[in-house]
Amino acid sequence: MSEKNLESILHESRSFPPNAEFTSKARLKAADLEALTREAAADHEAYWARLAREEIDWHTPFTQTLDESNAPNYRWFTDGTLNVSHNCLDVHLEARGDKTAIIFEAENGDSRTLSYRELTAAVCRLANGLRAQGIQSGDRVVLYMPMTPEAVIAMQACARIGAIHSVVFGGFSAKSLRDRIVDAGAKMVITADGGHRGGQIIALKEATDTALSQECETIEHVVVLRCTGRDINMVEGRDLWWSDVIDGQADQCEPEFVNAEHPLFLLYTSGSTGMPKGIQHSSGGYLLNTKLTSKWVFDLNDDDVFWCTADVGWVTGHSYVAYGPLAAGATIVIYEGAPTYPDGGRFWKICQQYGVTIFYTAPTAIRALMRFGDEVPLSYDLSKLRLLGTVGEPINPEAWMWYHRVIGKERCPIVDTWWQTETGAIMMSPIPGVTATKPGSCTRPIPGIAAAIVDEEGERVEAPNQGGYLVIEKPWPSMLRTIWGDNDRYIETYWEKFNNRYYVAGDSAVCDEEGYYRIMGRIDDVLNVSGHRLGTMEVESALVAHELVVEAAVVGQPHEIKGEAIFAYVVPRGARPVGEDAVAMAKVLRDWVGEELGAIAKPDDIRFADNLPKTRSGKIMRRLLRTIAKGEEITQDTSTLENEAILDQLRGEK
Ligand code: WTA
Repeated sequence: MSEKNLESILHESRSFPPNAEFTSKARLKAADLEALTREAAADHEAYWARLAREEIDWHTPFTQTLDESNAPNYRWFTDGTLNVSHNCLDVHLEARGDKTAIIFEAENGDSRTLSYRELTAAVCRLANGLRAQGIQSGDRVVLYMPMTPEAVIAMQACARIGAIHSVVFGGFSAKSLRDRIVDAGAKMVITADGGHRGGQIIALKEATDTALSQECETIEHVVVLRCTGRDINMVEGRDLWWSDVIDGQADQCEPEFVNAEHPLFLLYTSGSTGMPKGIQHSSGGYLLNTKLTSKWVFDLNDDDVFWCTADVGWVTGHSYVAYGPLAAGATIVIYEGAPTYPDGGRFWKICQQYGVTIFYTAPTAIRALMRFGDEVPLSYDLSKLRLLGTVGEPINPEAWMWYHRVIGKERCPIVDTWWQTETGAIMMSPIPGVTATKPGSCTRPIPGIAAAIVDEEGERVEAPNQGGYLVIEKPWPSMLRTIWGDNDRYIETYWEKFNNRYYVAGDSAVCDEEGYYRIMGRIDDVLNVSGHRLGTMEVESALVAHELVVEAAVVGQPHEIKGEAIFAYVVPRGARPVGEDAVAMAKVLRDWVGEELGAIAKPDDIRFADNLPKTRSGKIMRRLLRTIAKGEEITQDTSTLENEAILDQLRGEK
């Protein structure tokens, strides 16, 4: 984030209390929030234990709430057993079996709905089919699917039989898919003959075939969902059609009751170095926090239509599409395609058509949709909307105000929710009927979440408006359990900085006089492109894997819509290209990165140089590169630079 942004955020003084009508109907009132906060402060463990008993249908009740014996590998509700799919589906059948669980709209406008009863039957059939193909509790199943109800069905079916799913976003490349399959040691891939996005077909099956052509010996079967009807290659003995897998399977399936700590899923996310980390989540704790926050933050009621626009390839699509709202018995909307297809009114059209009452999206989408002008949303009936949410990156006050004014008609509270893949569920957010909101602030922690800001020594920063490291002081149920296959990396990444005293989120933040937090951005070398985390290292590794590249450095550059754009400096093999040659080579490299990692990782700008600015010890001076990328004057000390002359070239002046 640029200094300028930071300034404007710091001077934000507008405050928006919830309106009286919202408050009068809200699930949580001020007194409830106070009582919860008091209860959590009085006895952290007893508080979570009470909620876990009330919210989860346990197969065997737990007797131990928190096991700290292996800290910082905390365990929650360890001796309890449960099934997450049972808690999202079966528990609703009696009271709301015919209630709509999923409203689905395809990119071409086709739509269908599934009631809780139908969804449960579909999950059970697939779960039985997966068992028949030899998938057992603890096996890893990789999902590489378009955003259709079947993606949720596949996740729930895995949960039902205790299999651990690992969803790989459909926009990721074959290579990224392979890396994740290999790291997880997956036994099966569930994919589709293609997906739809922006009028294009995403060739998921071809990418799967490419991924499986090397090093993926653990894969026994590929299950293929028919979505587009295109011709694809089916490998005899390995590939099975989804329809054949479920053919003849019963629509009831005895759930596998697993230990509360049994991994529900892995989800790979970028770190500052090396291979993405397989974030491992639990069953009991994860379910508890996603369900509670769905109810508390989104104020879900039985007649709500909840639309979280995230793809299941990201954590938001796990916690607030596939699990939390279903556990809360809500009606959810799923849309397969692009937000701007065929035009910038698509999201608003969907809101109008299905009477969406709660809408949750990312700042990058808000900024992109804002560009189409106010007339576009104003031409749709958005009167059913009563609550708006954002997630994924800091929201700039201008976008917040537009969301508030044009979409929310100054009537809908906005919940700016801070959380991470690692935290599993929302950690800080307004409680919509209670908390007055301020543009750009995620306000306060959810009751039971012990957030704080600390300085470099790990001491609490008590004075208001002083930046520092955002940490969580006490374990919470939905916290990540480890990094799959690399517990040392888990400890090193999240705990070691302050001697295992706190969970270190990797974000910097400030807190004002009222205890309102503002997230300032990442502290490490992680880019946030359109709300998605990408490691600079991953993009650099992809670039240097190309035969034309000797060395590469990647930095983020503030971008009006995407939040951050990717700026790459490349040292080519042989002569440095200029003019048209440079344009042509940049295109080759952009496409290459797209193939290696996926389209979202394509650098927006590539600049060629004979060398990179390095310190005498050989470290690339990224701060300097960031300054150049922003087109700002270099004010940093460049005396430690080995080759000062390179700066002119990098600026594009020579
Ligand atoms: C950023 C997404 C400001 C933050 C759920 C965090 C935010 C990273 C917000 C996690 C917010 C997320 N305000 N920044 N409301 N929400 N972030 O793992 O830097 O994809 O660490 O999880 O996004 O991204 P992730």
